[in-house]
Amino acid sequence: MEKMPYRPELETQVVWQPTTTEVISTDWRRQLPILAGDQVVLREMRTSDAASLFSMLTTEEVARFISPPPSTVEGFERFIAWTQRQRAAGSYTCFAVTLKGFDTAIGIFQVRESEPGFKTAEWGFAIGSPFWGTGVFQEGAELVLQFVFDTLGVHRLEARAAVRNGRGTGALQKLGAVREGVLRKSFLRNGEYLDQALYAIVDEDWRASREVESLCPTTVH
Ligand SMILES: CC(C)(COP(=O)(O)OP(=O)(O)OC[C@H]1O[C@@H](n2cnc3c(N)ncnc32)[C@H](O)[C@@H]1OP(=O)(O)O)[C@@H](O)C(=O)NCCC(=O)NCCS
Repeated sequence: MEKMPYRPELETQVVWQPTTTEVISTDWRRQLPILAGDQVVLREMRTSDAASLFSMLTTEEVARFISPPPSTVEGFERFIAWTQRQRAAGSYTCFAVTLKGFDTAIGIFQVRESEPGFKTAEWGFAIGSPFWGTGVFQEGAELVLQFVFDTLGVHRLEARAAVRNGRGTGALQKLGAVREGVLRKSFLRNGEYLDQALYAIVDEDWRASREVESLCPTTVH
């Protein structure tokens, strides 16, 4: 989340630069698919999500290690409109996290391409703190990883997390993200430069871990 690309000044820039060499599926550019798990449904963001996302993502505990979220409901509305334009441009996706049976947005997963064609990408996420430790993140993240590797065709998915962000780094490690190094003093937050850890998941590792999981499921019935 720390290096995700939204900034209000980007709203005036033209971002769509289609090329003839694009090979990725284009359907998601028109409308994101709905990704449904047992308790979580991920879907396209809507303007009407602004109020709930404002209340979920602007609290101190959620926002302290991420790029400052919009500070008003109207700011979230502009952010949501921006996510839709970026998705249509084919360089970025942002899913709203909802609970099955309730359509209220309680968090987001963002993925942006780091190079044209989405071979390398970066993701970020934030969930309202009432839902931390409930499994919502884990299930949502697994749905996003499948979308990233199978639909977007990403080869390497990176994340940056403040080293002090225990929940963020813990959540990434649980997903199998490998900590590759520390980007010293790379993230300015509240007037202080924080160290960030660089994490990555590569597609073959993700596929191998899914095979192991299907052969040796960890769930005990
Ligand atoms: C990051 C985030 C989405 C993860 O969701 P979550 O529900 O808190 O994640 P989980 O509980 O599934 O996993 C966090 C893990 O970190 C562990 N952890 C490690 N260090 C921790 C610490 N200092 N404090 C709390 N938990 C810690 C938890 O115990 C948990 O592992 P476990 O399930 O094995 O016990 C959520 O915490 C969030 O929105 N944080 C604010 C936004 C943010 O920091 N996003 C950027 C992340 S790079």
